[in-house]
Amino acid sequence: MKQNNQPIGIFDSGVGGLSVWKELVSSLPNESVIYYADSANCPYGPKNKETIISLASKMVDFLIGKNCKIIIVACNTATAAAIDFLRSRYPLPFIGMEPAVKPAALDSKTKSIAVLATEGTFNGKLYIDTSKKYAKDVELNIKVGDKLVDIVEKGLINDPTTEHHLAALVKPLIDKNIDHLVLGCTHYPFLIEKLEKVLPSNVKIIDPAPAVINQTKKILEQFDLLDKQDDKPSYKFYYSGNAIVLKDILKNITDLNYSIEEDY
Ligand code: DGL
Repeated sequence: MKQNNQPIGIFDSGVGGLSVWKELVSSLPNESVIYYADSANCPYGPKNKETIISLASKMVDFLIGKNCKIIIVACNTATAAAIDFLRSRYPLPFIGMEPAVKPAALDSKTKSIAVLATEGTFNGKLYIDTSKKYAKDVELNIKVGDKLVDIVEKGLINDPTTEHHLAALVKPLIDKNIDHLVLGCTHYPFLIEKLEKVLPSNVKIIDPAPAVINQTKKILEQFDLLDKQDDKPSYKFYYSGNAIVLKDILKNITDLNYSIEEDY
């Protein structure tokens, strides 16, 4: 098989990376994709760096075993803990999740922005460096998205308590007069509709998926890895734990044909 026709690998601690997968298949419709959801080990947020590196390496070994030509780490927490290790250990290109502080800071009128992410992401060098570099001229408010990964993983997005929980979570940020909320965890875009209900209308929510997929496209071009054939791409999903929520979310976000395979 020519390298160009090999699939793109993508993984997350669970179903969050589906927010990136959705953008990937719509922006690069020729590419076949293999997704791994590590729902059995979710959440990664409170786990230590060594544990996340070991879990991420297992998935990377699996995706390389499936012949992937490039891997998207569709998890901010895993990017923060493991991307340097993965890049030094494996020969293929990796794309990580970038905290989208720069566009928010540049666009802010109130000069106050917020980032919602896991504790693992906030502790990572990547976030610390990016925020130092790009958020000099704005007030940068950070908030750990307490319970949000759980809400998405357990299929509780439409539970009546979710909106109350979100309202309480963002209240201190609204009090800081923010006009941008950066989503620093790939699970959170599934809560955008609910967040819009509890945020003032001037607050712009930033989902980094489009920027990450743009970057993926650039790297594929740079390495001459784009799939240029017109044959139908395939979409496969593997998971640890259970697939109930994975199936549910996929039903809601895509009409494409895909297959879900149990574990590895
Ligand atoms: N989707 C992961 C992220 O982007 C969720 C983290 C977790 O598992 O706690 O950070």
